[in-house]
Amino acid sequence: MWHDGRLCYGGDYNPEQWPAEVWAEDVALMRRARVTLVTVGVFAWSRLEPAPGQYCFDWLDQVLDLLHDGGIRVALATPTASPPPWFSLAHPGALPVTVDGVRLHHGSRDTYCAAAPAYRSAARRVTAALADRYARHPAVALWRVHNEYGTTCHCEHTARAFRRWLAGRYGDLDTLNDAWVTSFWSQHYSDWAQISTPRATQYLGNPGHLLDFRRFWSDTLLAAYAEQRDLLRAVAPQTPVTTNYVLGDWVPVDHARWAREVDLVAVDHYPSAVDGGAEEQTALVGDLARGWARHAAADPTWLLMESAPQQIHTTGRAHTKEPGRMLRHSLAHVARGSHGAMFFQWRASAGGAERFHSALVPHAGPDSRVFREAVELGAVLERLTEVRGRVEASVALAVDASSAWALRHPGLPSTRVDHHEELAAAHRALWHAGYGCDTVAPGEALDGYRLLVLPALYLTDDATAEWIRAYVHRGGHLLATYLSGTADAHARIRLGGYPGALRDVLGVRVEEFHPLADGDEVRLADGGTGRIWAETVHPTGAETVTTYAGGVLDGSPAITRHRHGTGTAWYVSTRPDDTTYRRLLDSAARAADIAPVCPDAPAGVEAVRRLHPGGSWLFLLNHTDRARRVPARGRDLLTDTEVDEAVTLPPGGVAVLRERLPSATGDETTT
Ligand code: GAL
Repeated sequence: MWHDGRLCYGGDYNPEQWPAEVWAEDVALMRRARVTLVTVGVFAWSRLEPAPGQYCFDWLDQVLDLLHDGGIRVALATPTASPPPWFSLAHPGALPVTVDGVRLHHGSRDTYCAAAPAYRSAARRVTAALADRYARHPAVALWRVHNEYGTTCHCEHTARAFRRWLAGRYGDLDTLNDAWVTSFWSQHYSDWAQISTPRATQYLGNPGHLLDFRRFWSDTLLAAYAEQRDLLRAVAPQTPVTTNYVLGDWVPVDHARWAREVDLVAVDHYPSAVDGGAEEQTALVGDLARGWARHAAADPTWLLMESAPQQIHTTGRAHTKEPGRMLRHSLAHVARGSHGAMFFQWRASAGGAERFHSALVPHAGPDSRVFREAVELGAVLERLTEVRGRVEASVALAVDASSAWALRHPGLPSTRVDHHEELAAAHRALWHAGYGCDTVAPGEALDGYRLLVLPALYLTDDATAEWIRAYVHRGGHLLATYLSGTADAHARIRLGGYPGALRDVLGVRVEEFHPLADGDEVRLADGGTGRIWAETVHPTGAETVTTYAGGVLDGSPAITRHRHGTGTAWYVSTRPDDTTYRRLLDSAARAADIAPVCPDAPAGVEAVRRLHPGGSWLFLLNHTDRARRVPARGRDLLTDTEVDEAVTLPPGGVAVLRERLPSATGDETTT
């Protein structure tokens, strides 16, 4: 077991930035805040190996012993995300090269090429040394490999590895030429050596080339992770290994695929919006992480590995979180299956690039609002130890890294279509309407889901099309949004009318796209509006749910519904505004016989239910600045009081109810 039953609470801890006197104070403060787990050593390479092959572990020995004596467990990190200056100077060929061919220099972090042999062997060496030293240290509960794999490189090492990867994937150049449609613009390759990484070029790049580079690079980073993992497992087979996922459009990692290679899915989450957006994003990330965790080899639990205690970072400004918001965000993650809440970082640095990043112990020290809230959070998490089980969800949202990457290619009819934004829009609508949802990868088992949503699932290979078709055929409800089904696994367009692979199941044939300009809207006959995209849709069996109103598409179908087998398939050819989308998904969910998690919860109160054969727990999070009364029954674990009819949540307040379940005799029993 990688945890000791308690929820994980703590964060990145950087003792290498502080003199030893501070370490003792840190442990005392951690005990006050009931911290259970800290990550140590993430960027400590130059302290651990000050010169090639010379290790300095004394300080870490002391730190781990102190933490252990204080009852605090450690996620011991390998420091390989930040090679020391001596490494970069000795191996300039291992420095990364940008898409424009510029070689980067040390002086920050993450400055290495993950395909460079010198980097890989130095990373293995320091990992092996760390593993040898600490494999049996009683404080070490978890290995955290590296930090947020996500760098990219276009150097010659990368190009060579890319060619090897392509040869493995395609076998011969004819197959590759066909997959990439290199007949276009004279791009035919007659020798493997002609293929480079997709560097900056005169005009639009080739979609197949761009897509395969992303896939290859995800595999390369994964191999870099896996070789460290294997070294750690070899000496410490009892200690699970993970790496913290970074999320964002730029990340070249297929997280679902990676999940099969970690013992525990760990994600970092830093919302980028302030008003309500942070809560919507938090809910989505929790659902994504849980979806990835279902692929993980050992344990379907996941962990919020990093989050910011006190700030929300938006472009150009750090917003200070209001009192209580850190607790609410943390519980939103725990509600969605995170085995705790971890932060970046424990103590705010006195200098360095992130000197103003927030921390549980801020620059002001422990006599601060943030630290008092940290102490409160520790106490709250202790009260939630009993919570377990799956999250109630009857809606599945499909997520696919390849679709996301392909929709960012140049040359699409609109630069505004984005798989993740489509996913977020659908999730937001479901979240506001109060439905629990899981994210799924194409091909995953869909038993138990009554509604499957495909948010611009642009790349739909034949197996995925069959997966969708079979789901609807046997009675499932499907809602597909525009561009789903349009391309094949190589991003080649499926001919004969959009949405390509899904025409039969959706009962429509789309003839033309009408991408909309920024700020433009199309009106819908039901009173709603559409943004970003519109289409000329011809029903070929589907009924029209609503039409476009006005403009060139006046009277033509905008949203349709089709019976296929014993199921129903909705098609949405535009991006409905939030209210319309919410109404639409509400109708689709009700038609699929799905109820909201807490049908009587007032607007602005998030409800998430965890279910286990031995119990049921309802998380209620009031995201509004008014008190909210929620009809519910059970024992509030936070206040240790009985709730008979309703709980009143103060502004920004939370409750976690151990629900009463009806017993066989019809009476209610507390679980
Ligand atoms: C994370 C990273 C941390 C820290 C944090 C600041 O992405 O893992 O090391 O940089 O961002 O927001």
